[in-house]
Amino acid sequence: MTEPGPVAEKALLQALRGVPANPPPIWLMRQAGRYLPEYRATRAEAGSFLDLCYRPDLACEVTLQPIRRYGFDAAILFADILLVPQGLGRRLWFATGEGPRLDPLTTMAEVEALQDDAAVHETLAPIYETIRRLTIALPQETALIGFAGAPWTVATYMIAGRGKDEQAGARRLMTEAPETFAALMRRLEDATVAYLLGQLAAGAETVKIFDSWAGALAGAPEAFDRWCHAPIVSIAERIRAERPDAPVIAFARGATAEQTEALAKEPAIACVAVDETVDLSFAKDRLQPHATVQGNLDPGLLIEGGEPMRAAARRIVEVLGDGPFIFNLGHGVTPDVDPAHVADLVATVREASKA
Ligand code: CP3
Repeated sequence: MTEPGPVAEKALLQALRGVPANPPPIWLMRQAGRYLPEYRATRAEAGSFLDLCYRPDLACEVTLQPIRRYGFDAAILFADILLVPQGLGRRLWFATGEGPRLDPLTTMAEVEALQDDAAVHETLAPIYETIRRLTIALPQETALIGFAGAPWTVATYMIAGRGKDEQAGARRLMTEAPETFAALMRRLEDATVAYLLGQLAAGAETVKIFDSWAGALAGAPEAFDRWCHAPIVSIAERIRAERPDAPVIAFARGATAEQTEALAKEPAIACVAVDETVDLSFAKDRLQPHATVQGNLDPGLLIEGGEPMRAAARRIVEVLGDGPFIFNLGHGVTPDVDPAHVADLVATVREASKA
């Protein structure tokens, strides 16, 4: 009998360790979603988006769907950043065609009434179960990414109760009731650390922090440093203290190039995800020396497909492929994307790197 050889390191984890992989690992934000007919079928079976998130059998299935189709190098847990507010005791629902809705939170009494970490873990237990199932079901070369929203982005939804006019509501609370706002941000930071450590304990291999509305504070440098940069770094440091083996990916969408550079320089952050506005030579010269870069094809090009998409993808690999790099979009796959364009993109990235 021959001994099994050593198991090769997963390409995504190699890149997160700072070692370039050829071809570069690829996965896409919102790779599980409505553009896939099999996702729409499973979602219909679940009845609602939230039921889908809380049913480990179905959440596991939709996480695996894009892996089966495209052989991505990473799977991202199927869940949502707004499950944390729900774990904290806030009411959350998804109104068809309107996106997420929550009961707006604006008073200190409401912040003080938020549930403790034990209750958060209890509500989110099905998410940990999804992760445990995925560690068994995923191909051995596919890495598993857990995630949570950053406090600022989650707070914007909790305060305004919806995804419209959300930054204005949070910014108003920040100036009109600074103690209430700060208390909410502290509670979110603690709950997020607990939740991400729970995901790692269940088998996630890396975690990504989504600050999707960081751009709303990008033009207010002090507010950005205090409410986007500092909480993301603190969460990353607290995770690293418990789990030094687990790399942290930070995504501050809409942050300036310099704000992203400051995140990249933080030792606790292994990787910065960048949106399509970040210049490739800036990413190569100013970000890659400090962190792995993940990004940043314009999601609009995935809708368009064809040669414009392929040329842009090749250019990204050409500029960033020699350094630690993970191919992704600048933001998520949209429901109007043709699934054939995704297959074409994956083939293009894997071909481009052979040159
Ligand atoms: O494939 C994956 O990326 C994993 C799953 C995932 C979802 N949401 C599933 C989802 C992840 C990582 C998220 C993160 C998330 N959720 C973010 C941060 C990333 C980003 O996009 O900036 C934000 C801001 C949310 C909040 C949220 N959830 C919104 C604003 C919406 C409505 C918008 C929309 O696309 O409908 C959701 C719903 C949602 N989350 C869907 C999916 C697949 C669509 C729900 C459906 O099937 O109807």
